[in-house]
Amino acid sequence: MAVTKFLILLALTVGCTLAIKLPQNPEPNPEPLKWWQQEIIYQVYPRSHQDSDGDGVGDLAGIQSRLDHFTDLGVGAVWISPIYKSPMKDFGYDISNFTDIEPQFGTLESFKNLSSALKERNIKLIMDFVPNHSSNEHPWFNMSINREEIYDDFYVWKDPSGVNSSTGEPLPPNNWISVFGGSAWTYVEAREQFYLHQFTPEQPDLNYENPEVTKAILAAIKFWLDLGVDGFRVDAVPHLFDKPRPLWTQPVDPNRPPTALPSDWAYYQHLYTYNLPGVFEVLAKFRELLDIYTWADGIERVMFVEAGVPTLDLLFEYYGTKEKPIAHFPFNFEFINRVKSGFNGTNIADVVDEWFTKMPEGMWANWLVGNHDNNRVASRFSPDTGIVDAFNALVLLLPGNAVTYYGEEIGMKNANISWEDTVDPPGCSAGPDRYQQFSRDPERTPMHWNDDKNAGFSTANKTWLPMHPDYPEVNVEAQINTTGASHIKVYKQLSALRATDVWRYGSMESQAPDGGALFGFSRIYNGKGFICLFNFVDEVKTINIPQEFEDIPQNATVYSTSVGFEPETAIGSSVRTDNLVIGARHSIILEF
Ligand code: NOJ
Ligand code: MG
Repeated sequence: MAVTKFLILLALTVGCTLAIKLPQNPEPNPEPLKWWQQEIIYQVYPRSHQDSDGDGVGDLAGIQSRLDHFTDLGVGAVWISPIYKSPMKDFGYDISNFTDIEPQFGTLESFKNLSSALKERNIKLIMDFVPNHSSNEHPWFNMSINREEIYDDFYVWKDPSGVNSSTGEPLPPNNWISVFGGSAWTYVEAREQFYLHQFTPEQPDLNYENPEVTKAILAAIKFWLDLGVDGFRVDAVPHLFDKPRPLWTQPVDPNRPPTALPSDWAYYQHLYTYNLPGVFEVLAKFRELLDIYTWADGIERVMFVEAGVPTLDLLFEYYGTKEKPIAHFPFNFEFINRVKSGFNGTNIADVVDEWFTKMPEGMWANWLVGNHDNNRVASRFSPDTGIVDAFNALVLLLPGNAVTYYGEEIGMKNANISWEDTVDPPGCSAGPDRYQQFSRDPERTPMHWNDDKNAGFSTANKTWLPMHPDYPEVNVEAQINTTGASHIKVYKQLSALRATDVWRYGSMESQAPDGGALFGFSRIYNGKGFICLFNFVDEVKTINIPQEFEDIPQNATVYSTSVGFEPETAIGSSVRTDNLVIGARHSIILEF
């Protein structure tokens, strides 16, 4: 597969930073990229994208009315967070019918309309699929409580470990804690047993030791494939298997964060509920089903998995092997997990270089910097939003998939959400003193389209989450119409560069010059190319590029700069590469 099938050559450069060089795809016939490798994947959070019916919640007709935005950005695939029927306890990640649409979002008809409108524009549709759990309002759960045939064992049921001597209440089977805090077990009087839920109590875990569960879930996947979807983002896959027999106690994690309480997930190691071998067997079955569709017409149906495992070695197991592939890719959370406030070029180089060095041969990278579970990139490090352009350039121009979370193209920030307005379950379960540490509401506020009421998102008097108050300045229309620079203009420049042979087939060399203050990577194909340079520190820096990177000519053209770039440098102007000045926390892209 393109670049990554070649040998990775490691070279030592200035200082102690490891640099990396990936060769270009060979002439005369570079291996063409598959659709899913080259298209930008844009994550839509449906509640927050566009409301069409004035109820303050986004919906499918709303998404359909905003397709021009995708085309304008050069987005080739949209991943929509769950739109299935749901009581919305975890805002769609609690599904009560895997083969129907949530009425708040629309109907199967509106889904089909959206799907064909996307097809007309040649934009692929990726569903978010949540196989680990259902809603407690799914009919399967009720039938399981009643021990109806087949469904008796659909969920993970266990007897109490005893009774509380003072209250007489049944005690949970063991010490397992839910990801969102508190016991992972809830008692059901009617069955006189506890069921396991690794997320909220309203999200009972399906029992994949029961082959009937796999069958039922495969049938749901088939339902959407038959409706023409192009693939799935598969949720929380390391949680799929649990080993509750003989009800082992999870040990306390010696490396737990100092602020973690015994009721927090982070307090323990999750040896019996996380990343067990059975996970891969189930996922391989999902993949086999997708491949049947792929083989039938030659268009890949894809599977991207969300696996928050602690090391790259563990993560890369989710690719599977060439003989037995599993995911097309596991999401790369390295920019989120490993790049912290005060970072510099070395930290970025470490992430980039380690990924390419360790990624198994023949596999394809992916880059992202945000999603609906993480602080927005514009708020994560500093109020300085030049960082938005830098990360969009990394995500869009490194070799691999690019995943953009809605609003990143305009530099949307986290909103300050009060305790009263907090709706996210981990925030609510943490209580008024600690909710800000856990709540994901701040990064989920509605999209900013323009400076009308509610940023053009909804005509409602109250939107499901409050709007970020900066929308009159930070919005799509304002950033497109300004005569000056803007994040969305930069994004569109980056996206255009991604659609070139240099991006598709070019070599890649990364370096962290100036003792790691800077980071840069070049992409070159048959002598033509571009170089992205980032100054992540608080000082102005000057760089002699040809001294640091191979095959860079003496003169180059400025292709794009971060918003407010200093010193003032016109796009399209010619610059000498041996003496380039980059202002503090700015980035620039040169073409040659
Ligand atoms: C991961 C999803 O990204 C998150 O939003 C959700 O709450 C959990 N899985 C549970 O489905
Ligand atoms: Mg609506």
